[in-house]
Amino acid sequence: MAVLRNLLGYLRRSKNKSEDFLLSAEGTPRYVAIIMDGNGRWASHRHLPVIAGHREGAKTLKRTIKSSRRAGVLELTVYAFSTENWQRPAAEVNDLMKMFAELIDREVPELHEQNVRVRFIGRRAELSEALLEKIEWAEQLTDKNEAMTLFVAFNYGGRAEIEDAMKAAAGNGVAGGEIDVQKYLYAPEMHDPELLIRTSGEQRVSNFLLWQCAYCELVFLDKLWPEFSEEDLLSAFAEYGRRQRRFGAR
Ligand code: IPE
Ligand code: IPE
Ligand code: MG
Repeated sequence: MAVLRNLLGYLRRSKNKSEDFLLSAEGTPRYVAIIMDGNGRWASHRHLPVIAGHREGAKTLKRTIKSSRRAGVLELTVYAFSTENWQRPAAEVNDLMKMFAELIDREVPELHEQNVRVRFIGRRAELSEALLEKIEWAEQLTDKNEAMTLFVAFNYGGRAEIEDAMKAAAGNGVAGGEIDVQKYLYAPEMHDPELLIRTSGEQRVSNFLLWQCAYCELVFLDKLWPEFSEEDLLSAFAEYGRRQRRFGAR
């Protein structure tokens, strides 16, 4: 089954305009989520300002998107900014917002070239008009792409998502007992991640994908996000391949 699935995925993607694809290895997860943590510590170990760590982290993300796509991942969901991250010093938040806007301008055309679809999940109402426009532009530009979907979790919180889903359902007049929660999530089409990777040594979920990660496999790495390599990604995939998933059954 897995072989057939991988082969189908490979054939589907290889007909797209693209460079070489690695034939995905048996057991490679199709749906992957990453908590990209450790930028601040990376910068502070080097006596650099925290934004230098975030900039280095952005380079790691760019490499990781390419590697994931080449390995046959169909959906990659990355935690870029949480609903709790507003509590950081205003200077860091401002620098981050500026960096995200620049990244969208610079990287989205390249992602489009790579046939990657980009979607944002999170609370949009709290974002600046300018950033919101960029987000909508990126989503529209890449909407028909099919090599891989990159979900960027931005101003995202798992609890906020569940609350927003409940509110949207109530607003639609859906009775409590009949709510199909998935239908009201920020990206209803997103599959549950099979694997969640967190860098930096912290072993917690920090309000990420609380609904979707009910049964995902967890891999925690001691490396800081800016140091995360393709080799680390592939070894997390190999670790996933060794896990036995039971979903509560025998
Ligand atoms: C993750 O790195 C990036 C964001 C939260 C935006 P951190 O900035 O949390 O890095 P550490 O955990 O302080 O090292
Ligand atoms: C989670 O990391 C958020 C992102 C990576 C965007 P944090 O650094 O904010 O989480 P805590 O504070 O260590 O739990
Ligand atoms: Mg952190």
